[in-house]
Parts: sequence; C-alpha cells; structure tokens
Amino acid sequence: MAEGAGMAAPGSLDEHALKELIADELGAVRDRSLGLTTMALDEAELTAQVSPLMSPLVWDLAHVGNYEELWLLRATAGIEPMRPEIDDLYDAFEHPRVERPSLPLLPPSEARSYLATVRAKVLDALGSVRFDPANPLTSGGFVYGMVVQHEHQHDETMLATHQLRKGAPALLDPPDLHLGTSTPADKTEVLIEAGTFEMGTSDDPWTYDNERPGHLVDLPAYYIDTEPVTNAAYIAFMEAGGYDEPSHWHPKGWEWRCESGKGAPAFWSRDGGGQWLRRRFGRIEPVPLAEPVQHVCWYEADAYARWAGKRLPTEAEWEKAARWDPDAGRSRRYPWGDVYEPSRANLGQQRLKPAEAGSYESGASAYGVRRLLGDVWEWTSSDFHGYAGFEPFPYKEYSEVFFGPGHKVLRGGSWATHPLAVRGTFRNWDYPIRRQIFTGFRCARAAIPTVPTSVSSPGSSWKRGA
Ligand code: AVJ
Ligand code: FE
Repeated sequence: MAEGAGMAAPGSLDEHALKELIADELGAVRDRSLGLTTMALDEAELTAQVSPLMSPLVWDLAHVGNYEELWLLRATAGIEPMRPEIDDLYDAFEHPRVERPSLPLLPPSEARSYLATVRAKVLDALGSVRFDPANPLTSGGFVYGMVVQHEHQHDETMLATHQLRKGAPALLDPPDLHLGTSTPADKTEVLIEAGTFEMGTSDDPWTYDNERPGHLVDLPAYYIDTEPVTNAAYIAFMEAGGYDEPSHWHPKGWEWRCESGKGAPAFWSRDGGGQWLRRRFGRIEPVPLAEPVQHVCWYEADAYARWAGKRLPTEAEWEKAARWDPDAGRSRRYPWGDVYEPSRANLGQQRLKPAEAGSYESGASAYGVRRLLGDVWEWTSSDFHGYAGFEPFPYKEYSEVFFGPGHKVLRGGSWATHPLAVRGTFRNWDYPIRRQIFTGFRCARAAIPTVPTSVSSPGSSWKRGA
C-alpha cells in the first residue's frame, strides 16, 4: 500500500492512475507474501503442515500465483495456460487443507519462479488491457482488485499459520509502534436510533459480489458496545464460571464446549500463580488486559454475550453503526469517512496484535462507535447469505457456495488484514467453532422503546423493560 496519508479509492481514479495503483499494489502484496514465507523460513518449514486446519505455506504461495494466472493472464489477457498440469493441485475445491501436504506441490524455489514468471507477464499485459466499463470483469480494474485482495487474504491466512507454529520467525518480532495516547470512551455503549440505512454497495468498484447490491434496511433502536470486548472483561466471564454454565451457551456451543474441554481462548495458559498467559508468534507473554479478546470462536462470543445480558449484533446492526451518517443521510466507506487513512485503524500488520481499549479514537464512526475496522474480526449473530438481488460474480466459489446456516459472518478486519482487503461493506465468514483466525467480538442489545408518557402506565412499562 502506498505510504503516507490517505489512499485514493479505486473508484475515483482514471484508467492511467488506476494502472499505476494496480502495479504498485501488486508489488506491495508480493513483498508481503515473500516476507511471510521464503524470506523467513527454510524449505522444511515451508512444506510442513503446522495444523490440519491450514495449508503448508508453500501451497498458499503457489496458489496465489495460480489464481493470478487464471484471472489476470487467461481470463483477462487471453494468454494460454502456462502449466495446466498444476491447476488441480492449487484448486482449493479439489483438495481440502488436510490433504495438501501429500500433494506433489511445487517445491519452494519452483513456486517462487512460477510466481515471478506469472507476474512479469501480468505487468507486461497490464499496459494494453482496456478497463471497458461494459465488461464487468475489467471495469474499474475490478479483476486486478480481486487478485490483489486474494493475495492479501492468503497473507492473513499465512499469519494464522505462523501463529499456530510453536516457533517464531524473526520477521514476527513485534515492532511495538508507539500508538499515541489512548482516550477512554466516556460510554461503554452507544445508542443507534431506529431507522433505515443503506447496507452494502452497488457502485464501489473493488467490492465482492456478496457486498452487493446496496439496499435499504430498517432497524429498531439498539445499543452496541463502543469497543470490542477486552481480555479483562472476558476473564471476568471465565472467573464467573461462564464455561461451566450451560444456560449461557447455544446448544451446539455447549456440545463444542464439552467435547473440546476448552475453558479459555486459544493460545492461553496459566502460570503457577494463576496469571493468564498467551502464546503469540512463539513467545509467551502475560495476557494484556486492555486488548480485545482474540482467538475465541462464535460459540464463546455468544456465551459471553448472554452472560453479560446482551447478544451479538446482527451484521446489519454492525454495518449501520459503522457506516451510516445520520446527518448526511448516507453510508460511508469507512467508519470515519470515504478515504482510508492508516492512523485511524489498526490494520495491515502495522502492529502484530490488537490495540488497547481507548486507542484509535479518530477512527470512530458517525455514532462514536470505535475500532470497528482493524484490531479483531468481529463475530456477528448472522448466518452468511446473499443480499436480495445477489448475483454470483465472477465465480460461484468465492461466496455463493458458502451461503447457508453453517457459516457465521465476521466484520471489520483484524490487525492482520490489509486495508485494501476490508471496508465497511466487507463480509468474511467462517464456521462457528473456528478460533485460529484473529477474531473477537462486541455485544449489542435491544434499546427499550420509549413509552409515550400520555399512554404509559408506569407499572407495566417498567416491567416490560426489566
Ligand atoms: C473470505 C477469508 C473466507 O480464505 O477462505 C481465499 C478468502 N477465497 N481464496 C478464505 C479466499 C479464496 C476466504 N475468506
Ligand atoms: Fe484462495
């Protein structure tokens, strides 16, 4: 990503400027991918399977090159397949992650040279490709945006693989950037008044099919937490016996809890004195109380919310709190406005962990809700479905095949998400038992409707609110 202040929205650029942005971003994401793989690890580490949940790193690496070849060389530039015999190996639908280490994958050095060859041809073809507004694949540079985002998504996946590794690659030495001052929010919850807002988008050119089309959604009033739930708050739930009380848990969540035997977020342990510790990129450190809780599954988030007398927000509630500007009567691209600014959110691996409560005040939404983007992906109560009028584009396997009750929607990106790969409309999804991703949550609750004084009978209205 370009250094410095704001990043121009792809929708605001002409074709020439867009091509410069694309070339820069292709270079930047490749530096990131190589930094997370070949520069830090030896051959054995790259080909090992760290966890059955993850691919060997060398699979992710060649897969992003193969995806780039499919979309930017074959589909866009009409260039013949370079190595058709490897397509099957890197098709995520042909081989589940657990199988991938036993495939005849390209060894790291071959993967690297395959990536470099594809990239050279892509940059060569970029000059003559027309971003024809009548062709949805290239209009606004869409397919290039899709490929850059895809590589960033795999880079975040590779960070999750690194987090699962017992050892710590040197590149993951924490930079510990000074964050500036934290200003605690004066309220722990924000009221979002009842009314209609615009959810999703029909005109943002680098958005995915599942973010479309833009549509109006009417919501009753609700409260949403100003910030994500902290480790301190989560420890209070644990110490109150939250993991042992079935009434807090979804029936499936209670099954998960009993079968897994879990009693704390992933990567947590306890020292002799009872203090909570966490393993982060191979190092053990005390759990920082003011950071958002991370590495909890949907069932844990849901149980915490019930224990707190609340619930998870729906994804519409999350998005209204993040994007709607009630004074302007429109939705923003980011909580603070339409232009990305690095100082306003903990995104893009600037730090290698979430930030403390009270930070990034300047990233607040129009309603004053903070840290909706960055820090931790936030579980919502919603299943992943297409919006009314959804059309799969450019392929069903990005989104549509995952629609249904099996996947829960996550919003907002994490500290590991690149800013090009997230925005207020962006929808991520995963199984409700997953904890290896960089996820936390915030809570919401219905606002008690104000009873008009002329018709209220104090006795009954108070009871209803209780
Ligand atoms: C959107 C993060 C759920 O990693 O499975 C990567 C993104 N799609 N390659 C995933 C994706 C194809 C996807 N998520
Ligand atoms: Fe992929």
